[in-house]
Amino acid sequence: MFDLTIRNGRISTSQNTFVADIGIQGGTIAAIGENLPAGRRDIDAQGLWVMPGGIDSHAHIEQASSAGVMCADDFYSATVSAAFGGTTCVIPFAAQHKGQQVPEVVAAYAKLAAEKAVIDYGFHLILSEITPQMLEQDLPRAIAEGITSLKVYMTYDKLKIDDFQMLDVLEVAGREGAMVMVHAENHDVIRWIARRLLDKGLTAPKFHGVAHDAIAEIEASSRAIHLANLLDVPILLVHISGPEAIEVIRSARQLGSKVHAETCPQYLFLTAEDMDQEGLEGAKFCCSPPVRDKAAQDKVWQGLLDGTLGIYSSDHAPYKFDESGKLPKGDATTFKEMANGVPGLELRLPLLFSEGLLTGRLTPEEFVRLTATNHAYMYGLQKRKGDIAVGLDADIAIWDPQAQRSVRWSDLHDQVGYTPYEGRVVNGWPITVISRGEVVVENAQLQAERGRGQFLPCECPEPILQAAQQPKPSDASQWLGLKGKAWQQY
Ligand code: URP
Ligand code: ZN
Ligand code: ZN
Ligand code: ZN
Repeated sequence: MFDLTIRNGRISTSQNTFVADIGIQGGTIAAIGENLPAGRRDIDAQGLWVMPGGIDSHAHIEQASSAGVMCADDFYSATVSAAFGGTTCVIPFAAQHKGQQVPEVVAAYAKLAAEKAVIDYGFHLILSEITPQMLEQDLPRAIAEGITSLKVYMTYDKLKIDDFQMLDVLEVAGREGAMVMVHAENHDVIRWIARRLLDKGLTAPKFHGVAHDAIAEIEASSRAIHLANLLDVPILLVHISGPEAIEVIRSARQLGSKVHAETCPQYLFLTAEDMDQEGLEGAKFCCSPPVRDKAAQDKVWQGLLDGTLGIYSSDHAPYKFDESGKLPKGDATTFKEMANGVPGLELRLPLLFSEGLLTGRLTPEEFVRLTATNHAYMYGLQKRKGDIAVGLDADIAIWDPQAQRSVRWSDLHDQVGYTPYEGRVVNGWPITVISRGEVVVENAQLQAERGRGQFLPCECPEPILQAAQQPKPSDASQWLGLKGKAWQQY
């Protein structure tokens, strides 16, 4: 007898879609087939869509921003919010601020998450101060212990690393088996435009978008790709916002660069016009890179469809829009001090389900890969998570494709105080959410205990394993420096 049997649902995996039952035993998927034996509990999923729970591999949780603002969400509210939106696994950041040691940072985040998370989680590390101790000891140890992805920033005063440091990190990552995630924006381009705007008294939120010109994103993306080429290691460019950077990535991939890329709901569903509002209202839509225009959204959809953008994450950055590191809450501020980032953990899947899947833009299998499977492979979790298959954790979201909701922040479960998607109508909703075989959300109620979520050690990311096996790039790649690296002989 199974612990739980899900009956007659329309199941979508990363490979196909069919009607069947799922038998769950001991937290994992034990059988998929027709007329499976009864479970201790049976869920009737007739007319419903059964999909892998989402993996959100980019979320800031209980993290202080570099300007000193604390996230409104802790590991409890963030993971509850994720679960209500059909996400059953998150990979947030353990963020090193300058002066902090990696082992202490990891231990502190691990404790917070262990006490509060209601769904399973891994970690990435954010690196802000690159030291010999970090490169020689702390990173190899963290990677061996299951934190196999490292995020670095090319912008922000207190986070930015230089190219020399990036090369050091890329070298360690390539050798030890970790993925380097890059926030690629040119710091000086942004600073230079911002100073000019501020000198003219242009301080409103919408000028954040003007300062973060797409040139900043293209230049830094290209530079990060070339640095990775120098060492011939994979990188992942996170939160790609529009056509310019997508084109850079697409052509670099064609020429043999091992560059992977992520985008987020804000780049599909918001535009710069949203930032152009009275007072601080526009700050609700402020993220970096900024949201662009309608034409950019179309290119981001294309990037998802042609595989240039393989990862769709929220970049949930739950900073209250009227808080900044420098001014008390509620005070008028310039676009330079606004907390960056938008919330998205709960709505990431419903938005894509409504606008991607139900509109026919994406197949169910593409939806599954973009929201779960690709994340599992990217971060070395594919033996546990990311698909519906015998042997994997029973992390499942059961969707009602007929449900319709008008989004209201007051119905969501985060602590951010607003959603940039207020008033939007979404079709389809995950009505029952299962984590390791346990029903965690049902009838719009949370059924999960604080702290039930488990830490997931990540194995070596699949793209890193693949890169090690790939033949050397062809002559066509010569101009990218992918061939004939004289320096490596010495
Ligand atoms: O605006 C953003 N993306 N804020 C969150 C921090 C980051 O850069 O990912
Ligand atoms: Zn970033
Ligand atoms: Zn900015
Ligand atoms: Zn982020």
